[in-house]
Amino acid sequence: MNSFSAKAPARANIIGEHTDYATNAGHVLPTPLPFHTTIKLEKVTGTAGRVTISSENFDEPPCQRLLMETPRGHWTDYVVGCLRIAATRVELPALTVAVKSDVPIGSGISSSAALCVAVVRAVKGLFGTRWNDEEIALMAYESEHDYVGVPCGKMDQFASSVGRPGLALLLDTKTLKHRNVPLPSNIVLMLVDCGKKHDLAKGSGYRQRVAECTEARDKLGVGTLCELGYKDLPRLSALPENVAKRARHVITENLRVLEFVAALERGDSEKQADLIAASHVSQRDDFECSIPEIDALVESSIRFGVRGARLVGGGFGGAIIALVPRRKVAAWWSYVSRENPNSKLISTYALKNTENEYAA
Ligand code: GLA
Repeated sequence: MNSFSAKAPARANIIGEHTDYATNAGHVLPTPLPFHTTIKLEKVTGTAGRVTISSENFDEPPCQRLLMETPRGHWTDYVVGCLRIAATRVELPALTVAVKSDVPIGSGISSSAALCVAVVRAVKGLFGTRWNDEEIALMAYESEHDYVGVPCGKMDQFASSVGRPGLALLLDTKTLKHRNVPLPSNIVLMLVDCGKKHDLAKGSGYRQRVAECTEARDKLGVGTLCELGYKDLPRLSALPENVAKRARHVITENLRVLEFVAALERGDSEKQADLIAASHVSQRDDFECSIPEIDALVESSIRFGVRGARLVGGGFGGAIIALVPRRKVAAWWSYVSRENPNSKLISTYALKNTENEYAA
């Protein structure tokens, strides 16, 4: 076989934001989305370690890269990172990589994880390796975290590689144990872009939050922040105010994930909405990673009567996720879009075994 194509999905995180850094090691609850990145990997003649990368999505000539070179601050770094890691396990000849994607970039639904997981899946297919979904997620993570240098956690890569469509993935980012959780079929997951992009690789806000969480963990003398629970919150008063707020978000958000799964399992939609709403307030006031355009979308949703809406993903821009009763979806979007003319519907994703009927 000379070529192989593989694809991987984007993800939305239902709840559990910023709990997945190594310093925090908490729970997350993402779900794959019906947006995909497809990679066609082809063996070509030439020197091993040379790669030609092109994308249908960008109006630029194919990019020539060497696996031994350092990152350039270009999107192709993600591909090079994955291939370098793969090359430590299989012998790679010269390759061409063709990328095609319908994942919106900068909306906080992890276009980078979809790209990395698709590349590793394509290598697996072309070279017949036996990597399982967890190993693929970890290789994709290594590319993004260690090679590209994004200080991210492991949620996105696990959601893309291990997650299953229509189900939420409860992942403990400390042990990497995970299980699928069914979602209510009367709820539609709405994703709305606020019009301002987020960029984890370039943006300094995310990096600063990672540093603040590290400071909290070190000053509190714990292994990870998510070892702590509600009873430990008074200990945060010993920390500088900004650091205490970051830690309070992480600790309470981790507990909210577990409470949300319990509420899902007993069918308690009021409690689910409360927890999503509390997650947004905590991101806005304690983690301080929201922006006015995002808050405005969330507030519109609440005014309409849907409390379960919050900033999704890395923050400082991007999108909201809202859990909207199926029968109210059209009215909800008409209300929210009227109040926020710059916003854009990314997707509505019927949560369980249903059609993606409102997709933009
Ligand atoms: C980005 C990162 C993830 C996670 C989220 C916030 O998507 O890549 O690892 O930290 O932000 O929850």
